[in-house]
Amino acid sequence: MCGIVGYTGMQEAAPILLEGLKRLEYRGYDSAGIAVINGNEISVRKVSGRIAKLCEITNDGAACPGKVGIGHTRWATHGAPTDINAHPHVSNDGKFAVVHNGIIENYLALREELINKGYHFESETDTEVVVQLLEMYYKGDLKSAVMRVSSRLQGSYALGVVCSDAPDEIVAIRESSPLIIGIGAGENYFASDITALVSYTKNVIYLEDGEFAQITPDTVMIYDLLGNPVSKKVQRVTWDVQAAEKGGYEHFMLKEIVEQPRAVEATIRPRIRDNRVVLEEEGLNAEFLRGIKRIYITACGSAYYAGCVGRYAIESLCRIPVSTELASEFRYGDPMVDSETLVIVLSQSGETADTIAAIKESKSKGAPVLAIVNVVGSSVAKLADFTLYTWAGPEIAVATTKGYTTQLALLYLFALYTAGELGRIDEKTYRHMLRSLRSLPQKIQESVDLNPLIENYADDYRDARSIFFIGRNSDYGAAMEGALKMKEISYIHAEAYAAGELKHGTIALIEEHQPVIALCCNDTVREKTMNNIIEVKARGADVLALAEKRDADIISIADRMLWLPEVEPVFAGAVEIIPLQLLAYYTAKARNCDIDKPKNLAKSVTVE
Ligand code: AGP
Repeated sequence: MCGIVGYTGMQEAAPILLEGLKRLEYRGYDSAGIAVINGNEISVRKVSGRIAKLCEITNDGAACPGKVGIGHTRWATHGAPTDINAHPHVSNDGKFAVVHNGIIENYLALREELINKGYHFESETDTEVVVQLLEMYYKGDLKSAVMRVSSRLQGSYALGVVCSDAPDEIVAIRESSPLIIGIGAGENYFASDITALVSYTKNVIYLEDGEFAQITPDTVMIYDLLGNPVSKKVQRVTWDVQAAEKGGYEHFMLKEIVEQPRAVEATIRPRIRDNRVVLEEEGLNAEFLRGIKRIYITACGSAYYAGCVGRYAIESLCRIPVSTELASEFRYGDPMVDSETLVIVLSQSGETADTIAAIKESKSKGAPVLAIVNVVGSSVAKLADFTLYTWAGPEIAVATTKGYTTQLALLYLFALYTAGELGRIDEKTYRHMLRSLRSLPQKIQESVDLNPLIENYADDYRDARSIFFIGRNSDYGAAMEGALKMKEISYIHAEAYAAGELKHGTIALIEEHQPVIALCCNDTVREKTMNNIIEVKARGADVLALAEKRDADIISIADRMLWLPEVEPVFAGAVEIIPLQLLAYYTAKARNCDIDKPKNLAKSVTVE
């Protein structure tokens, strides 16, 4: 998730832009830049790496005189984090500069059109098409050029624009990415979130999707994309800077749990075109897939558990055998992989040492490697033969949530794409699965809304000595992730167990009031899991069952319930984890744990 800022007023713009970008550092980024209008020139300074480097090369802004400008922190999606790919991007004629947060989904077609019309591109980014389109459509009227360009863009964008022909103006355009205008006295601002503004002004206007603003030091004119004026209320911000970084949430983890519908949407939507899953541009095509006889999924921690859940979707739809293996075991286990084995590695950070080693081990044996990773240009992405990015945006909390569900979303996309390309499912099933996949963001949202009282359950677990999570099939994989969430942020011992295994020993541990959380979301094994609930209840266990609303009969055998919306069983893993994330979060909160930075843990385990 990138950060954008803009300023126009009577002060020097560069120091204000740099300060605003520093306020956005918490969002995570890998490059930064500013553009300032100086006379009738636009001067641009941008670097890969930290804002401190940008401050250094601009002498804290003194080297970029001017009172109007825009700034950007980039979280790379299209194109690795380099100086050239950093924003702002400038039009060929030097008249426009643009900063962007979001993804222009139709950028490839626009880029080709512009190149055919004689425009040249410097970067690999999707954003650069915007600034060249502005040059193409500009005939002296900035507002109509902005409207023409917006009508050509598909995807999500918050855009900031400066034009050397309008030396006191900044333009802000919003479509599906947050953009806020700050109202000052003889000066005005815009930013992608309040954190960058709140130390200058607490009077703000929230742009809505399909609106843009022309901003000068004394005026803010807002229009819809047809050019009709829109009147907006100025609102007063009550947050302080620290709270604003978390978007008003108490912890980054809760903010990132709530962001999951949008993160999964951002990951899925650009890969579905004309009612087909499209992964070709990642290099995965039918010819390659026909040569794959088996799949190995290897990763660490939650990423491994995502593989354990996603495996069922691949086997169910593609009928290709899938093995899962912890990367720390895989790398030393002399794995039996070869050119007919596709090794899929999963990683949020892309820097996990064991996972990197697993890639190298696979490639040394001639196995092609597909990486599913969140950080563009990370080591895992660079080493893999194919890379699918989870466009979850930066994940700040050590305990992963949106990183996990977006990994599952990509495994589901891969499963459906492969099944379609190899003809393993008929068209009717394909369409049904595509509809189910498209509905995942809304189902995830519903699984949050269906359990408004989940916070009250925390008191039932806060003093537990241990908690069992049980499930079968894909529910078992979700149980492993649910147990890890509980362990790593509340420090309560939790163990996931295959429900069918209880009678082979573990049930000896079930005594009066032993907390058991039973996942009953996979309808192919639900009855069996219900029998396991009865088994542990008979020995005094206290059972919380996780089930779809339509399975209300489970109430008769469980002590309490967490509800899920009806969801395609093959894809249930991305939905059933949500209540377990929230349960772990509220339990940890009740125990006053350091939720975003749990003891002994790092966000990325870059050593063995
Ligand atoms: C998950 O909440 C943990 N933070 C940890 O298990 C993590 O999933 C694991 O270290 C793998 O990290 P990666 O996805 O960045 O490779």
